[in-house]
Amino acid sequence: MVLRAIEQRFHEVFPELKGAGKERVFAVRAPGRVNLIGEHTDYNGGFVCPMAIDREMTIVGVPRGDTKIRMHSTLANQTVAFDASAEIAKDGPPWSLYAKGSVEAMRRRGKVKCGFDCLADSSVPLGGGLSSSASFEVATALATLAANDESLDRVELALACQWAEHTYPGVPCGIMDQFISAMGKKGYAMLLDCRDQSRRYVPLDDPNVKIVISNTNVHHELAAGEYGKRRAQCEAAVAAIQKKHAQVALLRDATMEMLDDARGGGDEMDDVTYRRARHVITEIARTVDFAADLENRDYKRCGERMYSSHTSLRDDYEVSCTELDILVEIARGVQGVYGARMTGGGFGGCIVAIVEATAVEKLTAAIDAEYPKRTGKKATTFATVASAGAGKLEWRPSHVV
Ligand code: GLA
Repeated sequence: MVLRAIEQRFHEVFPELKGAGKERVFAVRAPGRVNLIGEHTDYNGGFVCPMAIDREMTIVGVPRGDTKIRMHSTLANQTVAFDASAEIAKDGPPWSLYAKGSVEAMRRRGKVKCGFDCLADSSVPLGGGLSSSASFEVATALATLAANDESLDRVELALACQWAEHTYPGVPCGIMDQFISAMGKKGYAMLLDCRDQSRRYVPLDDPNVKIVISNTNVHHELAAGEYGKRRAQCEAAVAAIQKKHAQVALLRDATMEMLDDARGGGDEMDDVTYRRARHVITEIARTVDFAADLENRDYKRCGERMYSSHTSLRDDYEVSCTELDILVEIARGVQGVYGARMTGGGFGGCIVAIVEATAVEKLTAAIDAEYPKRTGKKATTFATVASAGAGKLEWRPSHVV
């Protein structure tokens, strides 16, 4: 929905607020993201290279005189109400837990003196691996701050939102999604070092090159459980490597030589653990190289690294699925496509491709023709641009109906 429509819906949902507190009305936005490369590396202290996209969560609201929060979600078409004067309960509809966790994270930092009434609307596809959750958390945190005339350092904001996701919906995510939603930059991808949280912005504004996302429109249920399993397998790999290389605290610190050394003859580390670690170690290197290639506008090499990343995620990390593999294969067959790979946690969701601007239509047409034939499903394909991180939206009082 565009802002104007969101405002109107806000007044339909909360008719009693019509005309009230015009000057105090606030609007905030937080984008979804697409990860160009660096998958399942964030919780291993590695590098990731995401960019914020032009799909976002928008929240409009009005502060209240008490500590109550009422939030209406246009996607769920449901309103929840809770009180932020004391620890917020982890109950209610599942979607609301992302918001409750974020408000609780702000409350614990002493940022919640008053509550607010608000409406949350999103153009980020749900469950598609484009960080609909992180954008919701970050937007809710910003809404809470806006209602209270408060501010918070962006790194702390992102970490607070990650805490919210761990603690309320209970998803053990890394830091990538919240960081890029909170700190994306228009026209740039972000190379984030997840070990020390330092960031480098890499220009991605060449008009001859486009980033295309294609959504398989499938989301396999095992995703949630498998994510935790992968994390545990990475920890097991670190424990095995540490026996010979005590300085390795995270897979980020390990090299392929150390991994091979730790595997010994094969009986000191099982094959699955070995392959999981091999994905992470090689993916971290690919990500750093990709950022350098992108800086040099060497899109061909960027694309090759994306294909290698996909193969590694499919064969070594085993987080891809038939639909993702098919989309990547289709992309590979289109002239002008530099590279493609699954993006996000896996087991469904989206692929991301880097393509010559003139090839966007060809790629979309190829997917529309081939994907349904091979899967019986329809994919959703769109080009996107590197967008700004979360922030306040200019609210023109004339918009208030
Ligand atoms: C999910 C998590 C991220 C990251 C990716 C995989 O999106 O939220 O933290 O681990 O999976 O790269």
